[in-house]
Amino acid sequence: MNTWRPDSWQSRTALQQPVYRKSDEVEDVLRTLSQLPPLVTAWEVDRLQTQLAEAASGRAFVLQGGDCSESFADCNANTILRKLKVIIQMSLVLICGSKQRVVRIGRIAGQYAKPRSTDTEKRGAVELPSYRGDIINCSGFSPDEREPNPQLLLRAYERSALTMNYIRALSEGGFADLHHPENWDLEFVRNTPGSRRYQELLESLSDSIRFMEIVSSGELEQLTRVNFYTSHEGLHLLYEQALTRTDQRQRGYYNLSTHLPWIGERTRAIDGAHVEYFRGIRNPIGVKVGNTLAADELIDLIRVLNPQNIPGRLTLIHRFGAEKIAARLPALATAVRRSGLNVLWSCDPMHGNTQSTRNGFKTRSFDDITSEIITAFRVHADCGTRLSGIHLELTGEDVTECTGGPANLTESDLPRDYRSQVDPRLNYEQAMEIAFLLAEQTRSGH
Ligand code: PEP
Ligand code: CO
Repeated sequence: MNTWRPDSWQSRTALQQPVYRKSDEVEDVLRTLSQLPPLVTAWEVDRLQTQLAEAASGRAFVLQGGDCSESFADCNANTILRKLKVIIQMSLVLICGSKQRVVRIGRIAGQYAKPRSTDTEKRGAVELPSYRGDIINCSGFSPDEREPNPQLLLRAYERSALTMNYIRALSEGGFADLHHPENWDLEFVRNTPGSRRYQELLESLSDSIRFMEIVSSGELEQLTRVNFYTSHEGLHLLYEQALTRTDQRQRGYYNLSTHLPWIGERTRAIDGAHVEYFRGIRNPIGVKVGNTLAADELIDLIRVLNPQNIPGRLTLIHRFGAEKIAARLPALATAVRRSGLNVLWSCDPMHGNTQSTRNGFKTRSFDDITSEIITAFRVHADCGTRLSGIHLELTGEDVTECTGGPANLTESDLPRDYRSQVDPRLNYEQAMEIAFLLAEQTRSGH
């Protein structure tokens, strides 16, 4: 195999990359980016890998979630706070239900680049480049807005840093204190069976904390903060390369733009640029696994991405769709188990279940999502493998993007508060319902 360098991917075919008109400007921006401080540290990245290894061996569960695509406009206190609140609330439900630790990972602080199925978008007679995420161009439908703009790389780095800074402050300080779960309340929560279940769980948790503190005579310091990691699709390789740094101990290269970058379904070709870039970084990494991947190809891909078979290094995030998972997953899970390769299995029940409604909204049905999750647990148990994580598109807002769930949203409810520029997200109530389902599934001993 060729020698890896942070730029060795440039000799391979890189899909889904923007075409910039002014290459001088791109060079300037990348030079600036490569001199700015990293957003995370190698110590944090290593710690996450250890926790993922624990999850893969059955001692923790990975909860990864956030927007399909973050937007610059949503880089504000309230939106970030609500995302954190919903993920923390979900993790509590999971901890109480599964009696396992939960590794919390946001699709946040850098989830700005989107793969698209077509290079252009047509509206009437007008055809313009597709919107590829706020790091590349703007979602408005005019030639100026759709032109890829290299300055947006810097704007994305800055928003990622601002988001990261706020997350760190919240997860270290009083906000994340388990003694004060009221900090995570959301203002619009209705009095539903789900919210009552959550309140009951908090009450029994408070009792347990009081008990623990009495027997250990003092406040339990570890309960006053939470671990929270970041992740994004490592799609825009020039950006990822500019944030790739050697660590203090000079043991190799880390992508220090995020803790856990992942390779998307459209860019996981074994001889492609993304796989080349990812194989050389020391972060734990994810790869999306969809319906077109055969078992032998998957085994080859795992060997390239994790040649030393390091536990926690590689998370396989499968996304087949409710209808296909039972037919597709067994061959892959069985082949990986037989090969003795270490992977963490996570289920993305969102991306195989996207549909368009008659009135032109992209949506997902809550029932398809739950059905894919339940099947994933069952198939892994049947194959002798273990589902150790979930990957969701969700928000802490009260949006109407996915149908079904506790409020039984229908297609005609979608226009009321549909905000996503790309994929539909679970709203708060739907996300909490999934957390209860996961708690039940992990408890039932799969
Ligand atoms: C995504 O996670 O938003 C995404 C584009 O997923 P996939 O690569 O699985 O299609
Ligand atoms: Co998506």
